[in-house]
Amino acid sequence: MKVIDTIAEFRNTSAGAAKPLGLVPTMGFLHQGHMSLVQRARAENATVAVSIFVNPTQFSPNEDFSAYPRNMGADLAMLREAGVDLVFAPRAEEVYPSGFETQVDVGNIASRLEGEHRPGHFKGVATVVCKLLTIVRPDRCYFGQKDAQQCLVIQRLNTDLNLGAEIVVCPTVREPDGLALSSRNVNLSPDERNASLVLYRALSKAKAMRDSGVADAEEIKLAMRNLIEGEPLAQIGYVSVADPFTLLELSNIDGQALASMAVHIGKTRLIDNMVI
Ligand code: PAJ
Repeated sequence: MKVIDTIAEFRNTSAGAAKPLGLVPTMGFLHQGHMSLVQRARAENATVAVSIFVNPTQFSPNEDFSAYPRNMGADLAMLREAGVDLVFAPRAEEVYPSGFETQVDVGNIASRLEGEHRPGHFKGVATVVCKLLTIVRPDRCYFGQKDAQQCLVIQRLNTDLNLGAEIVVCPTVREPDGLALSSRNVNLSPDERNASLVLYRALSKAKAMRDSGVADAEEIKLAMRNLIEGEPLAQIGYVSVADPFTLLELSNIDGQALASMAVHIGKTRLIDNMVI
């Protein structure tokens, strides 16, 4: 496994690598959610590249950029074990040299839900993923359904700017009790860890209602909100039942919908979603 920290060397190395090439972009502190993407990429490509970069531009000033968990040693050991070929782990100054000005704004799909609650977040995500796709030129690029809106934003970006990768969306990996794996889960105290189960419980409730024939999105959202509000340590950021492609809020569900939410558990902000 080759670990590379400069753009020039990574560009050259991936250009000369056996094809197809699969890329898994990450911010590190890897867990089994990330590794499910790596395993899928390993199964489908001759070369697997993983990027590890805590991207400063996708955090707003009041967010947890400096506190974001990092463990490069453990990450590299997991990636080596999984048979990864190339790791790109650049420093922030390599990705954003002085004078850097360009930002990628994906528009409507990036403006809703997370975009509304984290202004500028998807500009940072789209800009860094655009850079990664142009540096690495992968045949396939892997993302997790855990961040459903991010997948839609990246698909739009990839299509609109002709970046030429196949965007592969992989299922959300959960703990046995339903909590979606996230690098941020390490920040939860034992009581908060317990409280964090409201996200999965609310999504499961939404799915059960939908499965039993409920089509009124407001009724489903109300049930989700009531369930979350019953947990004293949880504070709702948003609760949404939206069209799974446009993310526009639905009133009447005709077919599938994306139930999603952001919930603060103490100081930790968690997101989760389920197609219902
Ligand atoms: P990060 O949060 O490290 O996640 C990297 C990838 O792993 C994302 O595609 C995310 O959706 C996926 N992932 C995280 N938890 C998962 C889980 N429980 N199950 C399945 N997939 C999961 O998302 C980012 O980094 C960044 O925004 C990035 C795309 C790297 C751009 O900086």
